[in-house]
Amino acid sequence: MEVVIVPDAAAGGELIAEALATLVRRKPEALLGVATGSTPLPVYEALAAKVRAGEVDASRARICQLDEYVGLPAGHPESYRSVVLREVVEPLGLDESAFMGPDGTAEDVQAACEAYDRALREAGGVDLQLLGIGTDGHIGFNEPCSSLASRTRIKTLTQQTREDNARFFDSLDEVPHHVITQGIGTILEARHLVLLATGEGKADAVAQAVEGPVAALVPASALQLHPHATVVVDEAAAGKLKLAEYFRATYAAKPEWQGL
Ligand code: F6R
Repeated sequence: MEVVIVPDAAAGGELIAEALATLVRRKPEALLGVATGSTPLPVYEALAAKVRAGEVDASRARICQLDEYVGLPAGHPESYRSVVLREVVEPLGLDESAFMGPDGTAEDVQAACEAYDRALREAGGVDLQLLGIGTDGHIGFNEPCSSLASRTRIKTLTQQTREDNARFFDSLDEVPHHVITQGIGTILEARHLVLLATGEGKADAVAQAVEGPVAALVPASALQLHPHATVVVDEAAAGKLKLAEYFRATYAAKPEWQGL
């Protein structure tokens, strides 16, 4: 696992956007896995700016979703489908047909989960999966004690996550209890995992995920099992890393050709 400490969220966004742009230049039809929430927004803004400036042609890129609320009506502004279309697909100038995600409105949720895992495989697998991290260490919506081998399935949100996400809704009561999320086993199949964490509120979760034992209690610690995982943290989110100085020195000495 590589840990990159950046000064702030904007620098993290720029670094990851450049990694995405580099991937798309090499593989124009790359399948980019995106996360929702507040953390990745600087990445999407920086990538869209590169597209507008003609630094990268993303017109053949494909976008896939990590997770989705269950039961929000189609078109609800806070369904993750709506959010990804609004924050990623449209700013990149892509058509909705370039996007794939699990169906949170399906009557048969289990069948929708299995169909999504199948669709990801048939699409050739995710080239780069961007991840955020919950204050409880979740990735996607794999809450603590999710199986490290899990596939896309329905999960129940913890009260903490519902409270964390209430800011996107009018009240806590409106935050769904259930979600569909790519499983940890599904996420680990992406060719490159890039987790971005910013702000002091993520410092404990980051330290446990990066320097703690691999444990279902901290789902993000599963990144330790992946051969190409990059964790990008701002100074505040890096605040509890014991090896921070080592991570800084390693990145400072990294040959430029390696990229992320
Ligand atoms: C959502 C997702 C979640 C978020 C996490 C952090 O698609 O994957 O794991 O990344 O809840 O959310 P923010 O970035 O809002 O703190």
